[in-house]
Amino acid sequence: MNVALIVAAGSGERLGAGRPKALVEVGGRPLVQWSIDALAQVSTIEQVVVALPAGAHPARGLQPRPGVLFVDGGSSRSQSVHIALAAVQARGGQDDLVLVHDAARPLVTPDLAEAVIAALESDADAHAAIAAMPVTDTVKRVDSAGAVHETLDRSSLWAVQTPQVFRRDALERALDIGAEELARATDDAWLIERDGGKVIVVAASDENLKVTTPLDLRVAELLLAERGAIAGVPRTSA
Ligand code: CTP
Ligand code: MG
Repeated sequence: MNVALIVAAGSGERLGAGRPKALVEVGGRPLVQWSIDALAQVSTIEQVVVALPAGAHPARGLQPRPGVLFVDGGSSRSQSVHIALAAVQARGGQDDLVLVHDAARPLVTPDLAEAVIAALESDADAHAAIAAMPVTDTVKRVDSAGAVHETLDRSSLWAVQTPQVFRRDALERALDIGAEELARATDDAWLIERDGGKVIVVAASDENLKVTTPLDLRVAELLLAERGAIAGVPRTSA
């Protein structure tokens, strides 16, 4: 069976809302609820484990629903992934996939989650498939004094998002490291790559934006309203 882990245990420093980002209201519900509702619509996902800030559960405004489990997250993002994976109730089978998603991306759709799962299912050599987009900005490498050292070749650069989908055994092995190393990982796919694992990208949309700053939150609010999504998560393409 496939499972989804939603990491929502961050403090949201850069948003500066005075409470954890995942619990900030957007479009009439806590930010994390959008991701829960979207992933709960994916028929091949049988359980969703949500890592919340310690003490946030039972969380204000979060709707209990069958198949959704809340746990206290950890001190880094990957630590929260590790804790959520350990809380999965079903024993892992050979073909099981684990989808990892950031609560900070409330515009995820069931279709995008299904596309990333399907990509991994159809590549027997791959250990992970990740949502991503070709970079549209020109990217330069700059030193700490502000001097440009290099302009990177944009044609091979992709900006990575979540969902990221893993073979369960590969993710379990990758996360089985110390807390300090886990804290260095900005995404879980990196833990697979550095061990020589094969990670493939799935073209996503810039609508699957990450809420980091107050501006991002305003944009997310507008997009969710535009989808008419207040009543539910539509199955629009990602
Ligand atoms: N996250 C988590 N556990 C942590 C840190 C982060 O589950 N210890 C989650 C966040 O809740 C978020 C995702 O990882 O959904 C991506 O992190 P980020 O966008 O950096 O969120 P925050 O850490 O909350 O924000 P900030 O860095 O501004 O404090
Ligand atoms: Mg953070």
